[in-house]
Amino acid sequence: MNSMVITAHPDLNQSRVNKALIQKLKNVDIYVRDLYLEYPTWQIDVEKEQQTLLQYDRIVFQFPFYWYSCPPLLKKWFDDVLTFGWAYGPGGDNLRDKEFMIATTTGGSEASYRSGGDNKYTISELMRPIERTLTRCKGNFLPVFVGYSVMQATDAELEHIAESYLEAVKAPMEILIH
Ligand SMILES: Cc1cc2nc3c(=O)[nH]c(=O)nc-3n(C[C@H](O)[C@H](O)[C@H](O)COP(=O)(O)O)c2cc1C
Repeated sequence: MNSMVITAHPDLNQSRVNKALIQKLKNVDIYVRDLYLEYPTWQIDVEKEQQTLLQYDRIVFQFPFYWYSCPPLLKKWFDDVLTFGWAYGPGGDNLRDKEFMIATTTGGSEASYRSGGDNKYTISELMRPIERTLTRCKGNFLPVFVGYSVMQATDAELEHIAESYLEAVKAPMEILIH
């Protein structure tokens, strides 16, 4: 299976957690890129992005959770790249059956992301606009990977999160969905 990880971190140089997750993917055959490094002026090359998407069976979107959503350049990427007649609508079948995964890292704890918790909703609930975007494009939406409480994580805890991330990125859909 061909996999691509599209990361979106506004300042990867200042990142501790997402940088560590990317580092963990270095020794496996997965194409990893960062939108903010690739598009410093935010002028997304739509044709190139669409052609690249065709080459992969699984696309992972990895980002730090910012205000209950993804960083804005990734939102722009969705807006620009997932076009009518290409990704959805008549003839828009290019993403049919591709596997999509969201991988995010949060300052909040796992216990805070539930009804009655400090953040009130689960991450899966909060990801619904992205989930629906990708299923509207006829993709398979895989369970979200979350690294919780990352700001307090020790190096050992961060390594554990990164190991789990690598496992999730590599795992077949049948293992992830049960
Ligand atoms: C602008 C901004 C918004 C954030 N919003 C949230 C949020 O809504 N929920 C949350 O749990 N953490 C939030 N955080 C914490 C980030 O998710 C956390 O700093 C990030 O996952 C750490 O990853 P990094 O080391 O790769 O930057 C926010 C951080 C910033 C800078």
